[in-house]
Amino acid sequence: MHIRLANSGSSFGASADQPLLDAARDAAFNLPHSCQSGNCGACKARLVRGEIHYPRGTPLGLSAAEVAEGLILLCQACARSDLVLETFEIRAADSGAPRRLPCRIERRARLSADVMGLYLRLPIAEDFRFAPGQYIDILLPGDRRRSFSIASPPHDSRPLELHVRHVPGGEFTDPLFHDLLGSLLLIEGPLGTFAYRPHAGRAPPMLLIGGGTGIAPLLCILRHVIDQGIERDMRLYWGVRAETDLYAQTTIDALSRRAAGLKYAPVLSEASAGWRGLTGWVHEAALEGIDDLASYEVYAAGPPAMIEALQGAYAVRGVSMERLYCDSFDYAEDTLVRQRMSAATKS
Ligand SMILES: Cc1cc2nc3c(=O)[nH]c(=O)nc-3n(C[C@H](O)[C@H](O)[C@H](O)COP(=O)(O)OP(=O)(O)OC[C@H]3O[C@@H](n4cnc5c(N)ncnc54)[C@H](O)[C@@H]3O)c2cc1C
Ligand code: FES
Repeated sequence: MHIRLANSGSSFGASADQPLLDAARDAAFNLPHSCQSGNCGACKARLVRGEIHYPRGTPLGLSAAEVAEGLILLCQACARSDLVLETFEIRAADSGAPRRLPCRIERRARLSADVMGLYLRLPIAEDFRFAPGQYIDILLPGDRRRSFSIASPPHDSRPLELHVRHVPGGEFTDPLFHDLLGSLLLIEGPLGTFAYRPHAGRAPPMLLIGGGTGIAPLLCILRHVIDQGIERDMRLYWGVRAETDLYAQTTIDALSRRAAGLKYAPVLSEASAGWRGLTGWVHEAALEGIDDLASYEVYAAGPPAMIEALQGAYAVRGVSMERLYCDSFDYAEDTLVRQRMSAATKS
């Protein structure tokens, strides 16, 4: 099938059972996306001409009104005919095309009770270019994949640093935490359109909101901005459950000392009686007292529930989401399929 992108005039081929996002990626088009499981809505596009179908069922990430407007989700939709689509083509600045690379786990370090720092050594001869904020997929047998954001900045990415939260019973993270994982991995990357937007002139203030390991891509962005000597007003809010989960505190304190424009506040959802800082939900703490939200560039990364709540807060305030960039840490597609199958057999 022939797929044409109306805004750029470029085109690519797709087979009938291949999600359009995958077909675009195979043809080296980096279209906006995040969860790849039909939940976050980041891969929305307008179907101008042609017919699509959703082999895995109607995705949750589109409202009835959006469907009526002709919007589709590229990570789930497959072509039934030749198509014309209206979408945004993005090649994050300085980012190379995604590639598969073997790599070695150089080091693993417990950062907190349930977060492991994973440091990957890439082949020396390979030029691995990515934009601050992007992620990689770790490939499992059967072409299944697990996504993890890059915490190290592009200029200091050897080894590549990941922050991996333990998912009890998780196919990838369980063996990692029980020391049962070999030292060789196959990765694909860089991926994703959650990436720092550079500004030629005066940049708007930046609000960074992270939930749990969602701090990883934000640290990458912060290190990039600060190490490059870019002067911006930045506010970082990091939400975790308890004080012992603040595993990157020392790194953030060191960055704060170097950047006068950076203000940082941790937010605990299950604070102990002795905690003197902010408490509650991180997105609420971050938006508190901001009347001119539209003037901020907001980068948010973490659990899907946090991203949805933040998008909801924008909707309630009637603020355009044009400057809201989100990275939703969703389940992997095969995990979702497993969950759907298990729900179907139980009902
Ligand atoms: C773009 C992107 C970037 C990400 N970056 C990071 C990162 O930097 N650090 C990080 O720790 N995670 C990140 N994630 C989430 C991470 O990919 C999943 O937690 C991981 O795939 C779990 O793999 P697993 O094989 O151990 O678990 P699986 O075998 O896939 O799942 C086992 C069970 O755990 C539960 N589960 C699975 N995934 C999640 C989840 N995300 N949240 C809650 N419960 C879950 C499900 O109930 C599932 O049945 C990211 C996800 C995306 C989409
Ligand atoms: S809905 Fe397609 S990438 Fe999230």
